[in-house]
Amino acid sequence: MSTATHADSLFSRNLNKHYPIAVRGEGCWIIASDGRRYLDASGQAAVVNIGHGVAEIGSAMAEQSSRIAFAHTTQFHSESAEKLAARVLAIAPRNFRNGGRVYFTSGGSEATETAIKLARQYFLESKQPSRYRVVSRKQSYHGSTLGAMSVSGNVGRRAPYAPMIPEWGHVAPCFCYHCPFGKTYPECNLACADDLDAFLRANDASSVAAFLFEPVVGATLGAVPAVDGYTTRIAEICRKHGILVIADEVMSGIGRTGKPFASEHWGLEPDIILTGKGIASGYAPLGAVLVAPRLVEAFEKGSAAFMHGFTYQAHPVATAAGNAVFDYLEAHKLFERVASACDTLRKSLSRVESHPHVGRVRGLGLLMGVEFVKDKATREPFPKEAGIAEKIRQAAFDKNVLLYPGQGTVDGVRGDHVLLAPPFIIQAQECEQIAEGLQYALNTVFPLDSAESFL
Ligand SMILES: Cc1ncc(COP(=O)(O)O)c(C=O)c1O
Repeated sequence: MSTATHADSLFSRNLNKHYPIAVRGEGCWIIASDGRRYLDASGQAAVVNIGHGVAEIGSAMAEQSSRIAFAHTTQFHSESAEKLAARVLAIAPRNFRNGGRVYFTSGGSEATETAIKLARQYFLESKQPSRYRVVSRKQSYHGSTLGAMSVSGNVGRRAPYAPMIPEWGHVAPCFCYHCPFGKTYPECNLACADDLDAFLRANDASSVAAFLFEPVVGATLGAVPAVDGYTTRIAEICRKHGILVIADEVMSGIGRTGKPFASEHWGLEPDIILTGKGIASGYAPLGAVLVAPRLVEAFEKGSAAFMHGFTYQAHPVATAAGNAVFDYLEAHKLFERVASACDTLRKSLSRVESHPHVGRVRGLGLLMGVEFVKDKATREPFPKEAGIAEKIRQAAFDKNVLLYPGQGTVDGVRGDHVLLAPPFIIQAQECEQIAEGLQYALNTVFPLDSAESFL
């Protein structure tokens, strides 16, 4: 069979695009079938925390698979799932420690679906049947299934499916660089957090079950962390209205921001945490929902049976991959490495910060974003049609550096950024190569500006 026939069989992300075949991974590098080596500056989509091609992970998966690959969770647990649940709880914020539980899924979207339904059933178990809505934020992403799309505030990703998704309410993001209220932190007195309170007062808080948000907004805004004080105010507002706090840490969890969970940067103790991506570092499809003890207790005292499930939840081989990734993270002290790797990458990126079209280099730990603007002084974005983020991605790709582009940074339509989320093992020389790739991309996409004012 010809290669063309094979390529035509897969329903790819974009049917007009040609995709190289990835055949091998080595640390921060992906090697294609033509021998070309790509530096994975974004850990693909902030997934590959420990690096590519770690043979121990595959061995652990093969070992689990050869003993027992699958047993249905209606009838059995597996040692690997039970062990991983305990390990995840051991690194979770303190409120999860005594009596918390973990529900494993096959990815982030399923984790969001699970959290939405869990919040709903928690209120049924707690005899508050009016509560079902999950309020979230504009300019956010929580997954691609219809339930997860309903809470997502990513304009582009929602648009085609708008008639099919319920609207439970989206409040303002916490985004100082393009503050939706035109205010400045800290004089703003956290107007964005108070937007939740105003929304709840105006929109029947008694029907709301939970507030769901990303403590560090990943793909939609390009690595924008909450400002100090934001999560505390949010938690107060949620407690006041009797609703649950759900932190979506699918991207920011499992060490990516320098702490096991980003919530811990601000002492946030959510009722539910969603995670995914780095939990198995891409070696297996895996997501997780961490459930705080008081929610578990409500189920125990009530029906005890969560009316929800997936055939592949808590999969023995996927959770074996998760355990092997945890072993690797511990053996190589990789959580501890994030802060210094972040400093090194920041230093390398200082060479692009002065570019007239680089508005901001930002982020937390190894979850970083670079936002491009038309006018640095006014922060005015490029028009959508200019397709800047994709052009930057393509130019960096030509230099063998892989970036994760995003558009709609400012308001869901205008604005461009790229996300940087390399594996925690990134070395200084590779940080330099990322900066060189980005510099090359800037010079390619903005050739006239760059000649004198940059380099
Ligand atoms: C914050 C966040 N939540 C949820 C998801 C959905 O995860 P998945 O693509 O694994 O379904 C993503 C994916 O990018 C994400 O970044």
